[in-house]
Amino acid sequence: MAGAFDTQALRNAFGAFATGVTVVTTREENGTPRGFTANSFTSVSLNPPLLLVCIAKSAASLKIFENAPHFAVNILSEDQKAISGLFASRQPDKFEHAAWKPGPDAVPLIDASLAWFSCTREQCVDAGDHVILIGHVTDFDTRAGNPLGYFRGNYFSLGLDQPLVEAVARDTKSVIGAILARGTEILLDIDPQTAALTVPNAQFGEKGEGLDTLIAALAACGMRAEIDFLYSVYRNRASGANGIYYHGIVSGDAPAGRAFFDINNMPWERVTDAAQRSMLQRYSGEYAHGSFGIYEGDEDTGRVRKIGNQG
Ligand SMILES: Cc1cc2nc3c(=O)[nH]c(=O)nc-3n(C[C@H](O)[C@H](O)[C@H](O)COP(=O)(O)O)c2cc1C
Repeated sequence: MAGAFDTQALRNAFGAFATGVTVVTTREENGTPRGFTANSFTSVSLNPPLLLVCIAKSAASLKIFENAPHFAVNILSEDQKAISGLFASRQPDKFEHAAWKPGPDAVPLIDASLAWFSCTREQCVDAGDHVILIGHVTDFDTRAGNPLGYFRGNYFSLGLDQPLVEAVARDTKSVIGAILARGTEILLDIDPQTAALTVPNAQFGEKGEGLDTLIAALAACGMRAEIDFLYSVYRNRASGANGIYYHGIVSGDAPAGRAFFDINNMPWERVTDAAQRSMLQRYSGEYAHGSFGIYEGDEDTGRVRKIGNQG
């Protein structure tokens, strides 16, 4: 039957479209500010100036947005993951935990957003389990900065990842690898002599084709790997090499020389490379807490920036 898809599979496929993240705001008739996180924002028309955002019929604020004469769209910057999480919650007092100001027509504007658009409600279009809210832009502003990105259910940050990768890639001694997860297990290489475990990696090629080489090598063994985000960039002080490690999802059986290990029950003594052990221990901790970060530094010092929230 047409349209009888597995909803989760369809949601995952839609999630392959990388977007920014916005918070859509308005006021109830009594003046109470309301808002929700949305990545369904799209610019529609320049003349007249129109935009749209889709609101789920299940949203607590649906009726309020359908009836409000004005609303605003705030485009979040890479530092506003917490704001995204707050406005994606059903917490009744979201605005008490966010810095904001009244804008044109008293619509709430979230401080430090990358851009905002205040709108009059042009039209509401019924669309399946959502309502398309079309707004006529009456005022807007924007500032410099990097956007908060959203891809396959994870936040990402263009501003952080790209310069790091480029800086490290300029160095001749770099390795690129991937923490490849299959549920709670990760795929590791086993040294045939010492039984030491290492994260699968390839030498970084001139054009950065290392990761593709690794994925192709896995495919040749019947494994399918999909990379979803940059996980760690560090300098291994012992070897002097830079490491660029991505995170990905892998399926299939481990080929000879590789095996899956449960991240909650790792034989840490066999992960003999201190930098990789430190990275994997962080991964294990973050897996338990359901959030991931990006690491810059070496195996001893450095900082972690949170980039994602899983479920
Ligand atoms: C990154 C992200 C994007 C989202 N995009 C939308 C969206 O486009 N439309 C929508 O209705 N809900 C979206 N949501 C979910 C809402 O933010 C969430 O359901 C929220 O509780 C709605 O607020 P309300 O129930 O107070 O109205 C998104 C959530 C996240 C984390």
